[in-house]
Amino acid sequence: MEIFDQPHDIREWSRLQSTSSFSIGFVPTMGALHDGHTRLIEVAQQDCDRVVVSIFVNALQFNSPQDYEKYPRLMDADIQVCKEIGVDALYTPSHATMYPPGFETHVSPGQTATPMEGAFRKGHFEGVATVVNKLFSATQPHRAYFGAKDFQQLAVIKRMIIDFDLGIELVSVETVRQPDGLALSSRNARLTAQQRDAACVIYRGLQAARNAYMQGEQSSAELMSITTDIYTSCSEARVEYIEIFDSTTMCALQNISKRNAVMAVAVWFGDIRLIDNIEFTA
Ligand code: PAJ
Repeated sequence: MEIFDQPHDIREWSRLQSTSSFSIGFVPTMGALHDGHTRLIEVAQQDCDRVVVSIFVNALQFNSPQDYEKYPRLMDADIQVCKEIGVDALYTPSHATMYPPGFETHVSPGQTATPMEGAFRKGHFEGVATVVNKLFSATQPHRAYFGAKDFQQLAVIKRMIIDFDLGIELVSVETVRQPDGLALSSRNARLTAQQRDAACVIYRGLQAARNAYMQGEQSSAELMSITTDIYTSCSEARVEYIEIFDSTTMCALQNISKRNAVMAVAVWFGDIRLIDNIEFTA
């Protein structure tokens, strides 16, 4: 596995692969790699001749300095994981390389970035879109792999690829979960044992809404109240939002009869904020 920390070096490597007619799959991450990340890498390996992974904890997308500071950083272990599963190239730029003095150009996403994560984490998607644009530019992929766990992120990136004519195929990979339903997340490591046990309530609340939908309930208000009741019965959990929206436009839906809808939630356990979602397919 080759490791690069400068954009021109990884770009050169990618161009060489492309001129040899190898397709390049790209998996951007912030490290502290878990089975959700490795699933993305495996799917990329099935589709592409070469796989590039990036590890960069992007200060621009954190709206809280403490969250940025406390974000787990495990570079040595991550390099080992990437080597073991056969990643071809790893891109690990420093903050100074990504954002040198004078850096001032940002990507400004639109409606897809407005509700939910965009509303509760001001500037988050501007930071995500800006860094992903830079990472695309450095790694020059044919396909990019993102997790459905961050559903709104996927929608924002999908829109950016279209709007900026980037010509990259976006692949969505299903959420990897623990046996009790908790979605894998680098932030789970910071939960206490008690919070970790309680956190399985997140998926339970989502499933209860989907079950009600399968049995004919189409009112978003009703479905959201089912999930709310489950979360409020868990003393460890503090709900930030529960929303049902159109999976492409991110517009809130009153009724989900004719649209592909997603329920997304953000729930706090102590000072740790977890997000998850579930699809209702019409
Ligand atoms: P990070 O949280 O490290 O996630 C990297 C990728 O892994 C994202 O596409 C995310 O959706 C996916 N992922 C995380 N948990 C997953 C799970 N349990 N199952 C499947 N996929 C999962 O998302 C980011 O980093 C950053 O915002 C980034 C795109 C790298 C830009 O900085």
